[in-house]
Amino acid sequence: MMQHHVVSDDFLGKWQQTTNVMAGIFDVPAGLIMRVWPEQIEVLVSSHTPGNPYEAHEKANLSTGLYCETVMATRDVLQVPHALEDEHWQDNPDVALNMISYLGVPLLWPDQEVFGTICVLDSKKRLYQERYVALLWEIKRAIEADFKVMAQQQELIAGNAQLRDANQALARSNEELKAALEKINTMQVDLLRAEKMSALGKLVAGIAHELNTPIGNGLMLASTLKSNAVDITRELEAGVTRKRMQDFIDGVNQGADILLHSLGRAGELVTSFKQVAVDQSSMRRREFGLEKTCGEILVALGPTIRKSGHEVVCEVPDDIVMDSYPGALEQVLINLVNNALLHAYPSGLAGRIRITARSDADDWVEIGVIDDGVGISPANLARVFDPFFTTRLGQGGSGLGLSVVYNQITSALGGSVRVDSELGHGARFTLRLPRIAPKEVA
Ligand SMILES: Nc1ncnc2c1ncn2[C@@H]1O[C@H](COP(=O)(O)OP(=O)(O)OP(=O)(O)O)[C@@H](O)[C@H]1O
Ligand SMILES: [Mg+2]
Repeated sequence: MMQHHVVSDDFLGKWQQTTNVMAGIFDVPAGLIMRVWPEQIEVLVSSHTPGNPYEAHEKANLSTGLYCETVMATRDVLQVPHALEDEHWQDNPDVALNMISYLGVPLLWPDQEVFGTICVLDSKKRLYQERYVALLWEIKRAIEADFKVMAQQQELIAGNAQLRDANQALARSNEELKAALEKINTMQVDLLRAEKMSALGKLVAGIAHELNTPIGNGLMLASTLKSNAVDITRELEAGVTRKRMQDFIDGVNQGADILLHSLGRAGELVTSFKQVAVDQSSMRRREFGLEKTCGEILVALGPTIRKSGHEVVCEVPDDIVMDSYPGALEQVLINLVNNALLHAYPSGLAGRIRITARSDADDWVEIGVIDDGVGISPANLARVFDPFFTTRLGQGGSGLGLSVVYNQITSALGGSVRVDSELGHGARFTLRLPRIAPKEVA
């Protein structure tokens, strides 16, 4: 509501001068600017003129028959030349102050609400000429122009406050965003750590479980052999038949075979586990050319490849230089190539395995290990990276190869791996690695 606007001292000072001049021109003791409040009317500005009975800031109750009430109600000029000669005005409150003549016009806010009045009062009969009335309207319009400026100033101030509030809100939400981001970052580090831990933990639990069987079998056999030996020693004193002796020897042989097998299996598992448990921090990080590393792998695998009768080719451009862990990458590629040699060509047909690479502008390197073998069934495709998933159980497969691959790629090398395959159309393992490996997550 406009009524509640505070009128600044600047405007009050200006209007004081206006009322002073006005009182002088009209030659009256009182020139007033009145402001209406909900229940009362206030002398906002009172001319500094001799004999002026009104003081600024004094208030009078409304509904008491004041001249100004009529002006505000009709929103029109009111002229009372002589209240005491006028039945309607002779008892109005201003008469008590000896103000018996009145000329006033309404003051309106820009939104047409009533602000109050501007008026002149005198202690004697006055009949103002038309041009004096016109002058009062002009003064009114000048003050109303000031109202507009006031309103605009208020809007500016309010707008400013709003801007300030909005700015503060923005700053606050920026702070919150920053805090949230920091939290997410630390959470991500924690998650990475937890994931690494749980992957390792799962492997350890799995390994322990797997080792249980061959070692348990071995223990049982060893104790059977031992008690068999005790038996035969006792029987030997009494003399044994040739048949009994042969049975004993057969038993020892069989037991030794199974024992060898079990311990061999345990040994295999321990070897695979050693691969899994490679401590990343002890792995050497350095710059290396990808093509050279690829060549070294082919040399290392040379005997195996020749024996397999398949062909392995390196299609890596010679300008990719990585700053990463060559040991981990070699381990990964050897595993993938070995898998292709072992699993992709059961029929014995000669196959062709390709290692490809390309780098993109964002410093990522994509490496492919692609074979043209039997492929992987959709059901198995989702499980090949699981620890202990193997289709060669009991034929030397532990099912750890690809889980090691996965761990190395996602932790030390900081990348990702996917496999695509269709039965009968080969398999393709795609690695996406940062050319520069991330700093180690402790
Ligand atoms: N290139 C491939 N073509 C077809 N099948 C594959 C290929 N690579 C992996 N597989 C399948 O994924 C399974 C899991 O592979 P993974 O390397 O984890 O274990 P594995 O080779 O069986 O045993 P390990 O590597 O521990 O000796 C394999 O048993 C095989 O069925
Ligand atoms: Mg394997």
